[in-house]
Amino acid sequence: MNNDLGIYIHIPFCLKKCYYCDFVSYSNKEEMIEKYIFALCKEILQNADILSERKVETIYIGGGTPSYIDAKYIKQILDTLYMLVDKQYLKEVTIECNPNSITKEKLEIYKESGINRISIGLQSIYDDILKTIGRVHTFSDFTSALELVNQSGIDNISVDLIYPLPNLDFNRFKDTVDYVIGLKDKNVKHISIYNLEVHENTKLDFLLKEGYASLVDEDEEYEMYKYLVSTLQEKGFLRYEISNYALEGYLSKHNLRYWEQKEYLGFGVNASSFLNSSRYKNIPSIEQYIDNIANNLPTKTDVEDMDLLSLMKEYIILSLRKIDGLNLMSFKTRYKKDIFDLFKEEIDDLIKNGLLILENNSLKLTTRGLEVANVVWETFV
Ligand SMILES: C[S@@+](CC[C@H](N)C(=O)[O-])C[C@H]1O[C@@H](n2cnc3c(N)ncnc32)[C@H](O)[C@@H]1O
Ligand code: SF4
Repeated sequence: MNNDLGIYIHIPFCLKKCYYCDFVSYSNKEEMIEKYIFALCKEILQNADILSERKVETIYIGGGTPSYIDAKYIKQILDTLYMLVDKQYLKEVTIECNPNSITKEKLEIYKESGINRISIGLQSIYDDILKTIGRVHTFSDFTSALELVNQSGIDNISVDLIYPLPNLDFNRFKDTVDYVIGLKDKNVKHISIYNLEVHENTKLDFLLKEGYASLVDEDEEYEMYKYLVSTLQEKGFLRYEISNYALEGYLSKHNLRYWEQKEYLGFGVNASSFLNSSRYKNIPSIEQYIDNIANNLPTKTDVEDMDLLSLMKEYIILSLRKIDGLNLMSFKTRYKKDIFDLFKEEIDDLIKNGLLILENNSLKLTTRGLEVANVVWETFV
C-alpha cells in the first residue's frame, strides 16, 4: 500500500437547508459551532500518529457549507493539521463555498491558510429556480462571489450545477451550461454537473409528490445530458468522471483519490474514511459526535473490513466511473490477479451488450454505458 493519504473535513452547518439536500448539515445549530470545531480538532490530534507518518496530498473541506462559519475556525482546523502533516507533499486544499457567504476577509484567511481551490455551488443561473429549490443565494450573489475569489488570487475554481430542477427546461439549461463554460477567464477550471437525486423525506420529494413542483420528462432530460456532454467537451472541458469536467491539468486530485480507491481519513460528524482495507464513517449525530470526542469514546460506525473480493469489485466500479476506465495492468499490479480470470463472463456480457469496451489495455464504459452506469455497477455488487 502506498504511503499517501487524503483528508476530508466535514462542516455540517448551513444558513438554511436546501429542499433537495440530504447531506448531514444543520441550520439553527450555530450555538454548537465552537464546540464542534473543538471536537473536530481533538479528533485530528487523536490521529497524530497516522497523519505524521503519511504523505498527505489533498485536503477537502466540505459540508454543509464551510464558508458559512467564521473563517477563524477553518484556519484553526488547518493549523491543527499543519502541526502534524508534512506540508511538502500537499498538492490541493479545497473548500466548498456557498455564493452568499463568501467575503473578501474570509478569502484572505483561506489563502493564508494554504487553501488553493474553491468549489462554489451555483446549481442554476435562474433566481426563480434557486428559490424553488430553497437556495439562499441569487445569481448576482454568485457573480459577486466569483469576482471576490478572482481578486483573492485563488485561481483554481470549480462550479457545481444540478439538473433537472423544477422550472428548468432545455433552453434554460443550455443558458446555464453556456454561461459556466464562458467563465474560463474568471478561473473556472472545473465543472461538476450532478444529476438530481430526489431523496425520500426531503422537501423537494414532498413538493414533487404533491404536485407543487415538476421536472421535465425523460426525453428532455436526455437532451440536456446530450447537450452538456458534447458542449463541455467541445469547449475544452475534459469529461474525466461521470459528473465531472475539467480543463487540462485541473482534475480534482482529491476526488480522483476516491475513484482510484486510494486511502483517506475523514474528520467530523458522518465523515467517511478508507484505511487499511477498511471503510467506516463517524456517527451521524452532531451531539453524539461532540459528546463521544469529549469523553474519549469511539466515533466510528458502519465499519466494513473488506475482503479481497469486495475490494476488487469495488475497485472495478470506482475505476469505471472515470472516463479513462480501468487499466488492466494497474488491476494486476494492485491485486496480483488477472481481472479476466475472475470476471470474464461478466465483462464479456457487458461488452456484448455495448456497455463496456476494451481499448488501449483499459476497460471503459461506452457512450451507452455512461448513460446507464447503474446496470454495470449491479453486475459487480
Ligand atoms: C454538499 S454540497 C456542498 C456545497 C454547498 N453546501 C452548496 O450547496 O453550495 C455539494 C454539491 O452536491 C450537490 N448536491 C447536493 N445534493 C444533491 C442532490 N440531491 N442531487 C444532486 N446533487 C446534489 C450540489 O451541486 C452541491 O453543490
Ligand atoms: S447549502 Fe449545500 S449542504 Fe447546505 S443544505 Fe444546501 S446543498 Fe445541502
